[in-house]
Amino acid sequence: MRASAKALDLRKQPTPSRTARVDELQRQLEKMFRRLRVSVIYAGNKDNQGAVLHPVLNTRSWKSYEAVARDIGQSLSRLGVRDVTVLAEDMNLGKSLKEADSHMAWMNSGGVQGHSSVAHGPAMLEMFGIPYVGHDPMMAAILDAKHIFKRQLIAARLPTAPFMIWHPSHSHANPVLDPEFKTSFAGCTTGYVVKPVSGRASLNVHFVASPDQLKAKVEEVYAVSGNYILIEQFIPGREFCVAVSGPLVSRRRKIERLAEPFTFAILERVLEPDELIFTSMDVKPITNKRARPLSRQDEPELYERLAALGRAVVKTIGIEALIRLDIRADAEGNLFVLEANPKPDLKAPSDTVTSLICIGLEEENMDYDDLIFSQIAHRIDVLFAENRGSSQRLRSLI
Ligand SMILES: Nc1ncnc2c1ncn2[C@@H]1O[C@H](COP(=O)(O)OP(=O)(O)O)[C@@H](O)[C@H]1O
Ligand SMILES: [Mg+2]
Repeated sequence: MRASAKALDLRKQPTPSRTARVDELQRQLEKMFRRLRVSVIYAGNKDNQGAVLHPVLNTRSWKSYEAVARDIGQSLSRLGVRDVTVLAEDMNLGKSLKEADSHMAWMNSGGVQGHSSVAHGPAMLEMFGIPYVGHDPMMAAILDAKHIFKRQLIAARLPTAPFMIWHPSHSHANPVLDPEFKTSFAGCTTGYVVKPVSGRASLNVHFVASPDQLKAKVEEVYAVSGNYILIEQFIPGREFCVAVSGPLVSRRRKIERLAEPFTFAILERVLEPDELIFTSMDVKPITNKRARPLSRQDEPELYERLAALGRAVVKTIGIEALIRLDIRADAEGNLFVLEANPKPDLKAPSDTVTSLICIGLEEENMDYDDLIFSQIAHRIDVLFAENRGSSQRLRSLI
């Protein structure tokens, strides 16, 4: 027993050569930052003159995220990055990046308009040959399409609630009469949730108690989102979030390489007794009353199950940048992944309002700038390790 416990301990320790590489990376980053120009990108507004050729529907509820892009930019400046610009994602992005002569971008956008909008920014950056912090276009699109991501979870044998999709052009007019309904929801007694496949902040997410109300609700959500609609079994228990990134982590500006992805901000979203769907942060900002860190001491088994689920999702699906998982428990405490947010809110915390990701950072011996440093350090490490084409220009800075 003791021998195997020791073997496990050794496995968790990075080898000396990997530790040396982290020290080298730290030195390289410090040197690089003194010459680096980074553009933080938020979502341009399709109604602004010259932003797009033709405005079309947003299948994902639009938000500019400019204020958060500025928080990220200010943090990068504090971390020593020489030049930080904050740019709008729209059809002028290539020109703006050229003018700023950016070496690197940070994607903080859900897109401007259209289908799979979170993928448009990284797709353009891949085409331009600019390295960036964030998910590649394919992973961004998968994570932001709840039905596609859920099929990934199922293929990876990870738990997610039973569901079906509905679309007025491709499905039975009444979802209940679709054969899929019986297969997906046999024995469902808890009710249903209707939501857009691509959404944010609980917008257009509805609890539906009985099947005969589903037709009207899917039509209503389709009218605003214009894309597939997800019908999911309602999972009635506690709600949790888990952030996952890494495995490079900065604590007080010192980088460490963990043996596994880094799970943090493990918290419970506090639901009012009659609050079936967590109220949108657009309506009620995130405060310490709305979300509280899950205590590792008081609920160690649950804490570890959530962390293990976070690691499993990232490792089996091959996710390379920061995500925040939304998870809900059923009446027996079984956990189900609701979604993985590819662009979790990175608002810098203030005295009154915070972001879910920043809750509990102190316990990790981290502050906001460590969170930002961790993301860019990890991305540069991946670009260097995999020798991706766009990393050449970054190498020239060290
Ligand atoms: N199947 C479900 N069971 C219980 N609650 C759900 C379910 N799906 C969504 N919710 C509630 O709705 C909220 C928003 O849903 P989510 O899938 O996270 O989409 P988004 O955050 O993109 O709007 C969740 O935080 C949760 O409170
Ligand atoms: Mg969510």
